[in-house]
Amino acid sequence: MKVSTTFLSSKDIPKDLMLLDKTDTDYIHVDVMDGKFVSNKTMPFREMKHISDYTSKRLDIHLMVNEPSKYIPLYAELNAEYITFQIEIDEDIEKDLKMIKDYSIKCGLAIKPDTKVSSLIPYLPYLDLILVMSVEPGKGGQSFIVESENKIKEVRALLNSYNLDTIISVDGGINDKTVAMCHDADMVAAGSYIVLSDNFQEKISSLRK
Ligand code: DX5
Ligand code: ZN
Repeated sequence: MKVSTTFLSSKDIPKDLMLLDKTDTDYIHVDVMDGKFVSNKTMPFREMKHISDYTSKRLDIHLMVNEPSKYIPLYAELNAEYITFQIEIDEDIEKDLKMIKDYSIKCGLAIKPDTKVSSLIPYLPYLDLILVMSVEPGKGGQSFIVESENKIKEVRALLNSYNLDTIISVDGGINDKTVAMCHDADMVAAGSYIVLSDNFQEKISSLRK
């Protein structure tokens, strides 16, 4: 299981990023919120761009914003492996996915707990990653929605039926117990469980089993 660590719940972001840099976390999951798609708002890009001053880890960017087209060119400047945005937006999704690809960055779509897996079908040929939200997007520290286990299986079955190697990541409420419900996924994005602990590496290792 790959692990992408989010610092959304960090009390001291620079310090936690430097500590994460010393762990084997595969990626830093960067949650971006615009105060519109979700009511919370994360720091502006002019501050977010300093992430790479503190870590050389590659970034797994999760845009919870109404207009990804405004954010993609900014975040593409960073050390991004993936840029993922929510499928529930009003913009032209195909165009936004192509915009990410034009920067030679892998692209993903995230689906909220109530969004049907079948809504992904038109975009499958473009996707490198599917992010199954196991909480309502908007904040860290929520409980894993148990129905997500079936949803992950449904996404896996869909990918298998099209013979695709798109990776599945699961985001929200991940800890050493709930990760057991993510068997069919390739990666988990975890925040509070790791960054609110006093031993980041121990928590990351506990998710890999
Ligand atoms: C939720 C974010 C998640 C969240 C995960 O809106 O997309 O990435 O920060 O945090 P935890 O692990 O605390 O649920
Ligand atoms: Zn996220």
